[in-house]
Amino acid sequence: MNILILGSGGREHALAWAVMQNPKCDKLIVAPGNAGIAQIAECAGLDIMDGGLVATFAEENAIDFVIVGPEAPLAAGVADRLREAGFLVFGPSEAAARLEASKSFTKEICDAAGAPTAGYARFTEAGPAKDYIRAQGAPIVIKADGLAAGKGVIVAMDEATALAAIDDMLGGAFGGAGAEVVIEEFMEGEEASLFVLVDGETVLPIGTAQDHKRVGEGDTGPNTGGMGAYSPAPVLSAEVEARAMDEIVKPTMAEMARRGMPFQGVLYAGLMIKDGAPRLVEYNVRFGDPECQVLMLRLGAQAMDLMHAAAEGRLGEARVNWADDHAITVVMAANGYPGSYEKGSEIRGLDALPEDSRNMVFHAGTAEREGAIVATGGRVLNVTARGDSLQEARERAYAMVEAIDWQGGFYRRDIGWRAL
Ligand code: AMP
Ligand code: GLY
Repeated sequence: MNILILGSGGREHALAWAVMQNPKCDKLIVAPGNAGIAQIAECAGLDIMDGGLVATFAEENAIDFVIVGPEAPLAAGVADRLREAGFLVFGPSEAAARLEASKSFTKEICDAAGAPTAGYARFTEAGPAKDYIRAQGAPIVIKADGLAAGKGVIVAMDEATALAAIDDMLGGAFGGAGAEVVIEEFMEGEEASLFVLVDGETVLPIGTAQDHKRVGEGDTGPNTGGMGAYSPAPVLSAEVEARAMDEIVKPTMAEMARRGMPFQGVLYAGLMIKDGAPRLVEYNVRFGDPECQVLMLRLGAQAMDLMHAAAEGRLGEARVNWADDHAITVVMAANGYPGSYEKGSEIRGLDALPEDSRNMVFHAGTAEREGAIVATGGRVLNVTARGDSLQEARERAYAMVEAIDWQGGFYRRDIGWRAL
C-alpha cells in the first residue's frame, strides 16, 4: 500500500513510525513532515489545507490510503475532497469534525444522546452572558465556540476573570471562533483521555492516556498543547472505560449516524472522572499530540491495520492485541514556550540515542540545516519510551532526555507523577 500522512508534528512522526513497522506499507509520504520524519519517510511540501491540491498530489503519487493528522484540514473538509476524488481516508468529514470545531454543536449532540457532560448555556451577546455568570458564580468555564488552537478555554476561578473572558472572546480575541461563547459548569475530578476508533457504526477503544497541560512542574503556569503524556491512564480503569463507552461514546456516535453525519476516524474523548463516573469535557476528532506518541509506541504496526479497518468500515472484525505495558513521552520545548520563543537553535546528541520498539525520539518541530537538526517550533522533541512498568519507561525516557544536548530548550522533570 502507498500511504500519505498529512501533518508535521510529533503526532505525525509517531503515526509514520507505526505505519513504517507494518509490512503492508510499500511507500510512505508525509506532507509536509519535519526533519525527524524525513529520516524514515519521504516528505513533500504541500498545502494540506487545500483538499483539491492534496487530491491531485495523491493521484500523481498513486496513493492508496490517506491518514489525516491534525484537526484543521478535517474541519476544512479535506477528507471530503479526498473521498470525492475516490481515495480511502482515515479521518472524519467536515460535518462530523464539528464535534471538535464547534463546542455548542457537541453540547447539542450530548443533550440529544443523553451523554453526561457539564451544564451550559450559549451566548452571542456580552450582557446576557455576564448576567448568567453573575447568577451562576465562580468557578465557571468560558469557551470560544470554534477552533482556537487550544487557547479558547478559560477556567475562571473567580467572577472577574470570567467577565473579562467574555469581553475578550466576544470582543474578537479569537476572531470568528469567539463569535459565540459556551459557558459551562466547572467540573471537578481527574481528567483522562480515551481514544476510540469509529467506522461510522462500530466503535473500538484503542487506549487511554493522560497528559500534562501546564508548562511548569507540579502542573503550574500557563497552559500548553501538552508537556508530556503517559498511557495507560490508571484512573480510566476497565469499569470506568466501559461506562464512558456505554454512556458517552456509543450514544453520541449513534446520534451522529442518525443525523446523517456518521463519524469515521479516531474520536478523542476528554473525560472528567469523579467517584468512578465519567463526564465528557470535550471531543477531538484526531489523535492527541503528544498522546498519539505513547499510543503508537504501545500499538506498533497494528495501528495501521486498525486505521485501515476503520476507513474501510471493517472495525467489527478488528481486534487490538494488548501487551501489558506502559509508555511515556517527555516533551522538550523551546525556551520561552508557550510564550514567544527562539527558533533555529541546534540540537545535538540525537544520533547516539537508541531507536527501537521501546525507545523513540519523535520530532515535533525540527528542520535540518546543513546536516544539523535545529528547533523550529514551540514543542520540539517528544522523547518516548515503553516498559513493563511506568517507572521503567519513565527512567528510560529521562535517560534519553539527559543525553540530548540542546541549550535552547527545557522540559518538565515530573511527567507521570500523578500515576506513580
Ligand atoms: P478543552 O479545550 O475543552 O479541552 O479545555 C481545556 C481544559 O480546560 C480541559 O482539559 C480541562 O482541564 C479544562 N476544562 C474544560 N472544560 C471544563 C469544565 N467544564 N470543568 C472543568 N474544567 C474544564
Ligand atoms: N494534547 C492535547 C491535544 O492534543 O489536544
